[in-house]
Amino acid sequence: MRRKLAAGNWKMNGLGDALAELRALAATPAPQNTDILVCPPATLLSRASDIVKGTGVAIGGQDCHARACGAHTGDISADMLADAGARAVIIGHSERRDEHHEHDEHVRAKARAAWSSGLTAVICMGESLAEREADNTLDIIGGQLAGSIPDNATGENLVVAYEPIWAIGTGRVPTIAQIGEVHDFIRARLERRFGPGVGLSTRILYGGSVKPDNATEIFSVPNVDGALVGGASLTARDFRAIIDALSAA
Ligand code: 13P
Repeated sequence: MRRKLAAGNWKMNGLGDALAELRALAATPAPQNTDILVCPPATLLSRASDIVKGTGVAIGGQDCHARACGAHTGDISADMLADAGARAVIIGHSERRDEHHEHDEHVRAKARAAWSSGLTAVICMGESLAEREADNTLDIIGGQLAGSIPDNATGENLVVAYEPIWAIGTGRVPTIAQIGEVHDFIRARLERRFGPGVGLSTRILYGGSVKPDNATEIFSVPNVDGALVGGASLTARDFRAIIDALSAA
């Protein structure tokens, strides 16, 4: 009942010539059962939106400001993302939480802004290596889930991305059991807080060193509805291989 979702986060990568990869990705029809989202840097949003028009690929932003407009030099509002053709926005990525000192209350305010602008919020959460080693993973995730997601979530406006910080860009991936434990926990918490309708229809993505050669195994885990992919989303070939693995899972 949940559609699968392959989301690519280009982070601070990509000049105009990188759009050739998006063009190549969009040229192959999307699998029937899988949604595809690409989140390029803000400078490429409008051009990217033009490229994917009429294809199975949607475009998203990587962050938004909590306010609709105003004196916030360098920031981008959710309305601006929507105006540039975005359908979704990543919020609360660990790189934002770390480098820009974003806490759960900021993430929650940004998610509200995204929803006011009609965007799906892809809300990220994940534990550090120290937290994992101290056996605090579920406490951390439970806290981030409670603090980062506003009350009026639906299965359409919310996607949760579980991204263990120690797995991002490291080539280190949690075991299947570790991924399953956290995804089951997130599902149970979503159901408890929002009821089974929202809890069972919200997509939960895994992110952190997802590659073509580990995708099939990761997607075999129950409650993994897709992936938030960094490095491997930068080339159409690798991202397509991950999308194919997801649609076949
Ligand atoms: P990598 O796939 O490069 O590890 O990045 C994951 C990520 O942070 C996606 O948001």
